[in-house]
Amino acid sequence: MSDARTASAYWGRDGLERKILEALAAAGKNLESLTIDDLAPVDQFHSGGKAATVRLARLASLKPGTRVLDVGGGLGGPARTLAADFGCDVTVVDATESYVRAGAALTARVGLGHRVTHQLGDALALDVAPGALDVVWTQNSGMNIADKDRLYAGFARALRPGGRLATQEPMAGPIQPAIFPLMWARDASMNFLRPPNDMRAVIEAVGFRVRAWEDVTAELSGSSAGSAVPAHAIQRIVMGDALEAIIEAGHRNRAERRIVMIQAVCERA
Ligand SMILES: C[S@@+](CC[C@H](N)C(=O)[O-])C[C@H]1O[C@@H](n2cnc3c(N)ncnc32)[C@H](O)[C@@H]1O
Repeated sequence: MSDARTASAYWGRDGLERKILEALAAAGKNLESLTIDDLAPVDQFHSGGKAATVRLARLASLKPGTRVLDVGGGLGGPARTLAADFGCDVTVVDATESYVRAGAALTARVGLGHRVTHQLGDALALDVAPGALDVVWTQNSGMNIADKDRLYAGFARALRPGGRLATQEPMAGPIQPAIFPLMWARDASMNFLRPPNDMRAVIEAVGFRVRAWEDVTAELSGSSAGSAVPAHAIQRIVMGDALEAIIEAGHRNRAERRIVMIQAVCERA
């Protein structure tokens, strides 16, 4: 199976839009007047939640009218934030069909269909004209992808000269191995993290200049930690009973520096 099909089988869930709406209703949200902040617990599927998305968008100096491709953009929480709060036009591409469908429904529900579109696709085979984009955005999405050279070469190809890659990714820390289960992998067969220095070398080798490279492990750790995960969080909806073990392993992976979280902005030379 390809990375994309394996990822889709791992992440996909039936009836996701219904489950998300039920969780929001149970949390007391009015489904007829949902805001993107109401959605944040259920559609920002990464460490640090919406605050991490805003942090990265500021790091990348995103401006209104910027053409963004969000690769592995999931349910579209980051994309809707970039559209609503930063004025960007965003295409979300993701390998998991149930996320693409639920994401498009949520985008329509909050009236952002003119700014955000959702497509099924593989990060390793982007359907984008060379040089068409201002920004490639990718947040907690490359963990299941082994071929990092091909992944980042595809990002570089899709960007115009001077265009930027804005990324938040878990990377392998100085202590190995990681403790399983991880949010993205039950065992080592789906976990393709590399150390920050290796990742940086891959990114530079395909033609990027690193403009910012920040270790945000400590800063972003709070919001995916134990009781801080609300009852209606997407992590609970997707992972169900497996979440407690994932949270426990996550504490150790962070505390023991087995996994670090990096935000980076890189410019296509
Ligand atoms: C943890 S979720 C992050 C979603 C989103 N970036 C966010 O932060 O809310 C990881 C996402 O990566 C996607 N993904 C994994 N491998 C992929 C691939 N080869 N091509 C496209 N999407 C992929 C999954 O389908 C999933 O939606």
